Amino acid sequence: ASTLGAAAAEKGRYFGAAVAANHLGEAPYVSTLNTEFNSVTPENEMKWDAIERTRGTFTFGSADQIVNHAQSRGMKVRGHTLVWHSQLPGWVGGLGTADLRSAMNNHITQVMQHYKGKIHSWDVVNEAFQDGSSGARRSSPFQDKLGDGFIEEAFRTARAADPAAKLCYNDYNTDGVNAKSNAVYNLVRDFKARGVPIDCVGFQSHFNSASPVPSDYQANLQRFANLGVDVQITELDIEGSGTAQANSYGNVVRACLAVSRCTGITVWGVTDKYSWRPGGTPLLFDGNYNKKPAYGAVLTAL
Ligand code: XIL
Repeated sequence: ASTLGAAAAEKGRYFGAAVAANHLGEAPYVSTLNTEFNSVTPENEMKWDAIERTRGTFTFGSADQIVNHAQSRGMKVRGHTLVWHSQLPGWVGGLGTADLRSAMNNHITQVMQHYKGKIHSWDVVNEAFQDGSSGARRSSPFQDKLGDGFIEEAFRTARAADPAAKLCYNDYNTDGVNAKSNAVYNLVRDFKARGVPIDCVGFQSHFNSASPVPSDYQANLQRFANLGVDVQITELDIEGSGTAQANSYGNVVRACLAVSRCTGITVWGVTDKYSWRPGGTPLLFDGNYNKKPAYGAVLTAL
């Protein structure tokens, strides 16, 4: 196949990109998106501060724009993200425990019901663990007030809100075997043992020279898959250029394809022009929408 989406589809996978609604008026952005990708993730538009900036007032306009664009072209949509410490409006952190619990559950329920039937996978909880060797939870309003049980509660609420959506836990620096990924692994193992709903784990996969593609990337994906969940590469970008960057991208794609439960790959943007990495060039298309060597490596690997 001659596009990323079609090549991935031949392997039973999707190949997606993070999309920003405010670029959907830019012709080369849209044509690259429509030609190459068959899944989208709203880059910011489904975050709590975008959808429920004021308690109880839900603003779906920008996210709807992306979902409508995708649906009218037969692309899948990943939902990102329901419960996260970042891009969280200040009012959430100001609530007492009982109010916070109902606000969290209401947010999950309202957002998932709005998009019911339109989202293949939801990042229900994002980045709940600390970096480093402790394997501990990260401080957040949810963690600090609701305790360790907030993740389980979020997933149970999510299952009830849209039973057909795949429910994912998503994080970064969990791409190889390390203390943080061990902590996520233990969470997933516990959920599966106790029948807490969870269907997938997302590996953000933001790589750079300080944090390259781990040598045990495939083994780590496989150990999670062996717990009985799908795995997805959810926010892939790799700093660098030329052959080195291309080789790293090829390695990521080959690792996913080698794990039968690795169901898809999403790159965190369409073009270097709009990457969240300031001044960086971590994506598959350059600032003029030309295919980079990394693009060729991905297509060849698929
Ligand atoms: C980033 C977006 O790309 C930026 O536009 C925004 O300013 C900050 O968030 N982990 C995540 C993503 O789960 O939501 C983040 O996206 C990147 C890190």
